[in-house]
Amino acid sequence: MNWFHWLTIWAAFLQAGISHAIQLSIDDDDSIKSAAEQAAHGMFMWYSGNETGQNPGAFPEKWWEGSALFMAALQYWKYTGDTTYNAETSQGMEHQSGDAGDYMPSNYSTYLGNDDQGFWGLAAMLAAELQFPDVKDGFSWLSLAQGVFNTQVERWDTTSCGGGLRWQLFTYQAGYAMKNTISNGVLFQLSARLARYTNNQTYADWAEKIYDWMGSTPLLNEDTWHIADSVNIDDNCKSPGDNQWSYNYGTFIVGSAYMYNYTNDDKWLKRVNGFLGTTFSTFFPKNFGGNTMQEPCEPLEVCNNNEILFKGLVTSWLAYTALFIPSTKDKIQPKLKASAEAAADSCVGMGNNTCGVRWYQHKWDGWNGMEEQIIATNVFTSNLIIESSDKGPVTSDTGGDSKSNPNAGSSSDGDDGGQTLKKITTGDKAGAGILTALFVGVWVGMVAFMITGAG
Ligand SMILES: *[C@@H]1O[C@H](CO)[C@@H](O)[C@H](O)[C@H]1NC(C)=O
Ligand SMILES: *[C@@H]1O[C@H](CO)[C@@H](O)[C@H](O)[C@H]1NC(C)=O
Ligand SMILES: *[C@@H]1O[C@H](CO)[C@@H](O)[C@H](O)[C@H]1NC(C)=O
Ligand SMILES: *[C@@H]1O[C@H](CO)[C@@H](O)[C@H](O)[C@H]1NC(C)=O
Ligand SMILES: *[C@@H]1O[C@H](CO)[C@@H](O)[C@H](O)[C@H]1NC(C)=O
Repeated sequence: MNWFHWLTIWAAFLQAGISHAIQLSIDDDDSIKSAAEQAAHGMFMWYSGNETGQNPGAFPEKWWEGSALFMAALQYWKYTGDTTYNAETSQGMEHQSGDAGDYMPSNYSTYLGNDDQGFWGLAAMLAAELQFPDVKDGFSWLSLAQGVFNTQVERWDTTSCGGGLRWQLFTYQAGYAMKNTISNGVLFQLSARLARYTNNQTYADWAEKIYDWMGSTPLLNEDTWHIADSVNIDDNCKSPGDNQWSYNYGTFIVGSAYMYNYTNDDKWLKRVNGFLGTTFSTFFPKNFGGNTMQEPCEPLEVCNNNEILFKGLVTSWLAYTALFIPSTKDKIQPKLKASAEAAADSCVGMGNNTCGVRWYQHKWDGWNGMEEQIIATNVFTSNLIIESSDKGPVTSDTGGDSKSNPNAGSSSDGDDGGQTLKKITTGDKAGAGILTALFVGVWVGMVAFMITGAG
């Protein structure tokens, strides 16, 4: 042994002493699996829905986040083979599905937005596509996705702006006066995925219709491949709220990739590549090397819990896009690798591998929560997905056997003021009002800023 050897051992010893890290070798599947295992463990530390006296899958105050947790769990199971969280996932996804099997559970349905319900629909769709077994007594995964589709297309609103889904469902919600990208973008994606899985053209027609409507408003621009966040019905959807969020782009990228796979029409390929360009330049900034993902709210530390989750959704969607369209793989893969490596560097918090928000800092940034664990799990498993062409989303012709029910869901479960609409208590209204007032306040402020900034 020479002095250099001893120095190396000493350095390794010091490192082990000071940091507890997720060690990630990005080209080694076992290493990625082990990183995902640690992140997923942390993610379920925040979940108590399977304990006695708790409501499975319920996240009061942030109901939709359950869908993000379970989507991460489904991908974790499929691409690592670890079944640890399957029972909880199955139970939670069934329990929240509501009496009609359309993710309008009465505890939450009085203040939901179309986007909240839509994300649960995507979780059910993912379960069907990844061949997560249907439960014995309950709704099949496919029928739950169909239930969400059926209830949402009934809300397609031609009374203003030529169509589109409103953000929220009820007149007492402030978001009722808006049409937003993510609500329409999630239904677009869900329609595309249902079309491919079931080979039923009705779903594809809806995907086309939603995309075209988006393009007829300032929300989606095919010349610049720019996607805005929301429009207000008051001014006939003319002036967009232009915050840039990665999930708005991601949902149109992956939805277009599914449509390309289903139709083989080059217009969808062009759209995938167009939106990939703006996504890369906006969310993978050059100053961090151009491959590490960052949500624009991160540098000022103003991301809320919803917004923290976007990177996790988008990295997963990019991985599936690369699976469907191999010509995009060389562009997408370096971004998933660098982002996973940066995320792993952030998972050194609190002496127990707690992950942070700002991956680009390559250290723990002091943040912790279920959302941070979910996005780390997602970015690790995305690197497995992109190499798993043999385990891509199936269809009913390629092994998918989740039971179909084209008539799932029902309009009588509350969203149209039907008979079973539970009496809305003042408490419900107040809670909903607080949430939406916050959102709309931000939006109004932003528009004011844009107007004064332009003037
Ligand atoms: C890590 O420690 C923090 C603080 O004690 C705790 O809240 C969190 O649940 C722990 N996470 C894990 C994965 O053990
Ligand atoms: C909840 O699930 C976790 C596994 O993720 C398990 O360790 C725990 O025992 C379960 N709790 C109950 C009450 O089943
Ligand atoms: C709704 O609330 C009731 C009462 O707390 C609870 O028993 C039920 O499990 C909840 N349902 C859901 C879907 O969370
Ligand atoms: C659709 O995806 C499957 C893999 O899931 C692939 O085998 C097939 O070639 C794709 N079709 C088109 C038109 O891209
Ligand atoms: C196709 O989907 C539509 C919309 O849900 C449904 O009305 C129709 O019955 C479906 N067709 C078949 C053959 O399943």
